[in-house]
Amino acid sequence: MSAFNAVKLTDRVYWVGAIDWAIRNFHGYQTSRGTTYNAFLILDDKITLIDTVKKPFLSEMMSRISSVVDPEKIDYIVSNHSEMDHTGALPEAMTIIRPEKVYASPNGKKALQKHFHWDPETITTVKTGESLPLGETTLSFIETRMLHWPDSMVSYLAEEKILFSQDGFGMHLASTERFDDELSLHTLDEEAEKYFANILMPFSPLVTRLMSQLKELDLDVELLCPDHGPVWRSHIGRILGKWSEWAQQRPTRKAIVIYDTMWKSTASMADAICNGLSSLGISVRVMPLSSSHMSNVATEVIEAAALIVGSPTINGQIFPTVAACMTYLGSLKPRNMVGAAFGSYGWSGEAPGKLEKMLEDQNIPLAAEALKINYVPDEDALQKATEFGISVGHKLLELCEGD
Ligand SMILES: Cc1cc2nc3c(=O)[nH]c(=O)nc-3n(C[C@H](O)[C@H](O)[C@H](O)COP(=O)(O)O)c2cc1C
Ligand SMILES: [Fe+2]
Ligand SMILES: [Fe+2]
Repeated sequence: MSAFNAVKLTDRVYWVGAIDWAIRNFHGYQTSRGTTYNAFLILDDKITLIDTVKKPFLSEMMSRISSVVDPEKIDYIVSNHSEMDHTGALPEAMTIIRPEKVYASPNGKKALQKHFHWDPETITTVKTGESLPLGETTLSFIETRMLHWPDSMVSYLAEEKILFSQDGFGMHLASTERFDDELSLHTLDEEAEKYFANILMPFSPLVTRLMSQLKELDLDVELLCPDHGPVWRSHIGRILGKWSEWAQQRPTRKAIVIYDTMWKSTASMADAICNGLSSLGISVRVMPLSSSHMSNVATEVIEAAALIVGSPTINGQIFPTVAACMTYLGSLKPRNMVGAAFGSYGWSGEAPGKLEKMLEDQNIPLAAEALKINYVPDEDALQKATEFGISVGHKLLELCEGD
């Protein structure tokens, strides 16, 4: 008996992935609920493995495969995405399985060769529109370049109505449940939005294009199988709708205030700014960076219409956690929001100006001139901070009305 079992999705398709209960940091993304690396096995004349798992999970995947078929009987492996959470186990899996062919997109072949330094003939390429007969079923391929790597593609098994979507429509969520309807919708929405924000947000225009491409193709999909998190069977329309919505990054009456502080002066300013914003009926998330992970800030950014960022000046600079968070958010290219900077300082006060420059460099227009307060704010200074919040709030409301 195998230590791990495959999970039957249809009569001929099985989930043979791995559950990573322990991971909390996925290349800087805080995965508070762990994750799964999903691999799928198609039983047909040509037995086919879709994707593999992260390297340390090879034996878990092989054990799940062995629960349904002798791994040496696998004929084909398809790699939809060359990132190592899906290919780390591939080289060793190939030595055990000795497949007849390994397929990837043309960019996938290039990336895999650069990862594993294989001979060029190791990978057979498949392009958009090409298909691979497996016996009674046929896999067809759609390249989804830059969603989220140049090599990314999805594979469609028409007869079983399954779309294998690699990172697309995935989430970091470890669970014994394999299907969406076995988990709480609240958790699914939360983790799917976090995944979109941190992985897909920079490619929002491409996501919008993919969503209309999928609509045109009008694929009959009963199972949507991403490489992370649960398989979608009951809420497919919902997750597709959410992706279309998130890709719009539509501004709503919501502001985010992020800051860090050494002696709590910038923190008091943040609270007063929050009061100003909320007096206008704006929903505010105050996220002190000493206790808020930047991957959670990214999630809040999708629906926010203002990013207000505070930092004390430290040796002529922005406080490092704030600079790091701004660098990270900038890489995600948030759109449709206004920005503003604030902070307490002692003698030179460079941080708020530097933050304004970061916001402008990220194409986030400034809603107000930076608010700087010398050392500890008194009542007047806090009143100024409240008014600053109100004036940023008015700009936020204009942006939402104009949308
Ligand atoms: C290590 C250190 C370095 C600092 N460097 C500067 C500086 O270069 N320029 C400046 O204007 N203030 C500087 N300050 C003063 C702080 O910006 C000032 O105390 C501010 O009120 C701190 O705000 P906070 O309470 O939000 O941390 C420095 C403070 C510390 C502790
Ligand atoms: Fe990926
Ligand atoms: Fe992934």
